[in-house]
Amino acid sequence: MDRIRIEGGARLMGEIPIGGAKNSALKLMAAALLTDEPVTIRNVPRLADVDAMADLLMQFGVTLNIRRGDGPGNGDIVRLHAEKIDAAVAPYDIVRKMRASFQVTGPLLARHRAAKVSLPGGCAIGARPVDFHIQGLEAMGAKIVLEGGYVLANAPQGGLKGASFTVPRASVGATETMMMAATLASGLTVLRNAACEPEIVDLGEFLIAMGARIAGLGTREIRIEGVERLHGADYAVMADRIETGTYAIATALAGGDVELVGARLDTNVGLFTHLRNIGTEVSQTNRGVRVHRNGLRPTATDIVTDVYPAFPTDLQAQFMALLATADGTSHIKETIFENRFMHVPELARMGADIRIEGDLAVVHGVPKLKGAQVMATDLRASSSLVLAGLAAEGETIVNRVYHLDRGFERLEEKLSGVGAKIERLRE
Ligand code: UD1
Repeated sequence: MDRIRIEGGARLMGEIPIGGAKNSALKLMAAALLTDEPVTIRNVPRLADVDAMADLLMQFGVTLNIRRGDGPGNGDIVRLHAEKIDAAVAPYDIVRKMRASFQVTGPLLARHRAAKVSLPGGCAIGARPVDFHIQGLEAMGAKIVLEGGYVLANAPQGGLKGASFTVPRASVGATETMMMAATLASGLTVLRNAACEPEIVDLGEFLIAMGARIAGLGTREIRIEGVERLHGADYAVMADRIETGTYAIATALAGGDVELVGARLDTNVGLFTHLRNIGTEVSQTNRGVRVHRNGLRPTATDIVTDVYPAFPTDLQAQFMALLATADGTSHIKETIFENRFMHVPELARMGADIRIEGDLAVVHGVPKLKGAQVMATDLRASSSLVLAGLAAEGETIVNRVYHLDRGFERLEEKLSGVGAKIERLRE
């Protein structure tokens, strides 16, 4: 298994191109199932999760063609054509690798009226059930049974019906499943307590480009008026706000001056407010976002992860690596996922002083982290260990980096491009 070796202490200077958002691209690809016309999705990042979604869609008979784009993030151009759906079965072997693959259920039910989808796997961060997705689809008239680890779903005769549904707890995935399913249902669907993450807005805009009728994107109530059919579209995925945030935190941690080309300030307010509070300069440029820090120790601060626009759970681990070296004691409360502190024992191996009390991490900042051998446990936790390594004294080896390849495109290349001493050890 590949490992990453980092020699800490280098300041980061220069520019990093930000790719298309993984969490948006995957859903846009699934949404291509909703039409028998070809769709073109631009700015798609090159990631193992995108390959997994492509494999899954091909199982259903979707034809797929990928070529290199020339945008700022140099993302791929993916053309998908779901002219007809052969077999609506999403097998365990693919779905277990990535939770987002469960989200083909909504489009399959809406268009094909039946689906058999394995229960998902993905990152080992808590239980992560799919009960809200199922309840929402049942509210639209679907008959759903669980059998042998699979969800067997059938739409009523005449297809799904518009419904009023309150998501029990704001969920990105359940909001997206319902939004996609409702585009082809008969009548009006009103989704209350919807999540309003920028990736949901991106998916909604894509569906609108395909002819869907959706109002209230980016708010807690989304209204979808079903249409007879959707048509093809050509759409570019938004910039990845988690990749943006990760490199912004890297710059704050290691010190330096980096322009994140293609990044947006407005989709990362939760993070940038905190970065500024601890003494980092963050500004909009005409090509993206500039992050500047002089290398002084950050001041301690408290964060609470929550649904957008609050601090994103996907940046919690990276921010913890930064606060591990802050002057003073910080508190990090994780309200989205249980069991999302698996990076803590690994950061402790590097000299961090962090105590866990339920969903709260109490971080006593130390002046310097020290390089060590560490183990990546999930996607975002892996990136926090790389970040910690950038600022640590000496050598850090991050083992089990396959998680990183699921969500970060050319991470070593992008970081070494701004002066980090980082390399992949291939095995
Ligand atoms: C998405 C993102 C993930 C991010 C998360 C929260 C993708 C591919 N992944 O994940 O990177 O960390 O949003 O911003 O877009 N829940 C249930 N039942 C359900 C659905 C969710 O109990 O049916 C719970 C989850 O266990 C979790 C919370 O609701 O505690 C939020 O999960 P959700 O927003 O659905 O996350 P994902 O869509 O899986």
